Amino acid sequence: MHPGLRKMVRETRMDKSSLIYPMFIVEGENIKQEISAMPGQYRYSADRMGEKLESLLRAGVSSVLFFGIPKHKDAMGSMAYAQDGVVQRAFERAKKEFPGMYLIGDVCMCEYTSHGHCGVLCKEGVDNDRTLEYLARTAVSQVQAGADMVAPSDMMDGRVAAIRRTLDAEGFLHTPIMAYSAKFASSFYGPFREAAKSAPSFGDRKSYQMDYHNRREAVKEALLDAAEGADIVMVKPAMAYGDLIREIKEAVRLPAAAYSVSGEYAMVKGASAAGYIEEAPVVCEMAACAYRAGADIYISYFAEELAGYIERGVIG
Ligand code: PBG
Repeated sequence: MHPGLRKMVRETRMDKSSLIYPMFIVEGENIKQEISAMPGQYRYSADRMGEKLESLLRAGVSSVLFFGIPKHKDAMGSMAYAQDGVVQRAFERAKKEFPGMYLIGDVCMCEYTSHGHCGVLCKEGVDNDRTLEYLARTAVSQVQAGADMVAPSDMMDGRVAAIRRTLDAEGFLHTPIMAYSAKFASSFYGPFREAAKSAPSFGDRKSYQMDYHNRREAVKEALLDAAEGADIVMVKPAMAYGDLIREIKEAVRLPAAAYSVSGEYAMVKGASAAGYIEEAPVVCEMAACAYRAGADIYISYFAEELAGYIERGVIG
């Protein structure tokens, strides 16, 4: 078959503008530190992040998702919503130095709490309702600092409504929310927790993240987030969850994002370094399959490489 025809009838098309690159911003100066479980990925201090932002822009990736790693963690996660917090400082700087970048803030407490849970604690575990106020404050502080969109990843019930209400009250009526709607309690997040030093110090996240045996519940979560005012719904992880990307996309009728998480990245890197698979075609196949499943947006640590593959016509 003529390769031109194969491409002519291709059903899934990709565009660089739909890629988001997740990035770890660490407090301090002059830091570019490789993450050992994610070879090729780094923690950057705000004064060094420009190196990566420049190369992303050159490649055609203009959206980033920031995670902050503070020096000081406490039980209330107070550096998550501090105006001079690590991620707030990074937003201020990025907004000034890279006005063409679309800046997204991950809203969660686990990187900021000493116990590593995604909210504040009560006797029984995480206090869902009390956490909402802190999440809303975190979102507002990020937007005040320059974030263009917020992405709550905590999985507390009611957080999208709380964040929407608070953003509106502060005058940020036009700031969208990308909700981590179907976020599963997944072992694929292992390398992220090393990167962000955010593993829970006791217990696990199963009381607030979803059970991967469940499909209807995932759709319900996405519908709830949509009703609370989410502008984009997300499925996470991406690779093993294509059925839910499709189902949520059709049920919710909002743009759908798929997050190819740290464990997916680490598996590809590990297996290709060992010579068991070839990195580039595997990365292309994973991305194309997420889009085929229904993703409109793909969040990936391979975003810059993917932009290159799209540019060269390897995929898309
Ligand atoms: C914060 C958060 C996590 C990820 C994104 N936001 C970690 C977790 O829930 O434990 C995981 C991302 C990845 O693995 O790449 N709650």
